Amino acid sequence: MDAIDDSTPLARELANENRRREKLSGRTLPRPRATRVFTVSNQKGGVGKTTTTVNIAAALAAAGLNVLVIDIDPQGNASTALGVPHHAEVDSIYDVLIDDLPLGQVVAQCPDVSNLLCAPATIHLAGAEIELVSLVAREQRLRRAIDVYARERAEQGEERLDYIFIDCPPSLGLLTVNAFVAAQEVLIPIQCEYYALEGLSQLLKNIEMIQKHLNAELVVSTILLTMYDGRTNLAAQVASEVREHFPKQVLKAVIPRSVRISEAPSYQQTVMTYDPSSSGALSYLEAASEIAERS
Ligand SMILES: Nc1ncnc2c1ncn2[C@@H]1O[C@H](COP(=O)(O)OP(=O)(O)OP(=O)(O)O)[C@@H](O)[C@H]1O
Ligand SMILES: [Mg+2]
Repeated sequence: MDAIDDSTPLARELANENRRREKLSGRTLPRPRATRVFTVSNQKGGVGKTTTTVNIAAALAAAGLNVLVIDIDPQGNASTALGVPHHAEVDSIYDVLIDDLPLGQVVAQCPDVSNLLCAPATIHLAGAEIELVSLVAREQRLRRAIDVYARERAEQGEERLDYIFIDCPPSLGLLTVNAFVAAQEVLIPIQCEYYALEGLSQLLKNIEMIQKHLNAELVVSTILLTMYDGRTNLAAQVASEVREHFPKQVLKAVIPRSVRISEAPSYQQTVMTYDPSSSGALSYLEAASEIAERS
């Protein structure tokens, strides 16, 4: 019998997931007209910035788009999740920002996903906030490095990058400022819990300052609700409050709290390769396709 049994909550959920998967299957994602550069930022720690960066990047790359992740968090979590070496001896984004090493020389291919590149972060980056202070054009260094890299790729006949995602540390220091100056779009992951909106006004004020003084084209284009626990009223309340405040920016896709998502980095993987059939992978795929469709 083919009919879908939706007599139990689990069966209903499976049927719902199947419907969502069918909707996505066979869909090709449009290439943006020009490279879209996103900074993934929220000064609140542990809200899913890195998880969002690597999984959306992997989803877009798996769809055939050319994607670069730039890790500018000294913790190097994005480099870990993408399986790219980032021990202290590796040339990294630190050398790009501080010693003018060309970005092209630190970019590495992610082993599990073709078309996905990563500029890793090493522990040296922890000192960069302070070292940057005395450098010329200290806020523009990442932007310039990206511009030069794009030109080099074109000269060498390489394909244009479709997406760049910059994974920020949980602070609003000079590293994050470099990311805001280099990007056109900000993606803010918001964890569906009580303090979610606290600190958001500070983040938005900082972005306004950047828009005024350093990068007029920057927009908060995308907000993604993460670690959504459907069993709690609180998560639903936070989600509806965020949607009320930012109706245009919040993606329809919501990322559920999922063990598979949190396990993936310990295997140096994104959930897209670690467990592509999980509900977490499905949600990140939906989020990535919404982002691509909005271009
Ligand atoms: N949807 C999810 N379900 C379950 N666990 C998750 C989910 N998203 C992220 N996590 C876990 O929550 C923790 C924080 O996530 P993540 O590292 O992406 O946040 P972050 O904002 O980048 O943190 P930091 O501010 O330290 O850079 C990690 O252990 C991650 O594996
Ligand atoms: Mg992080």
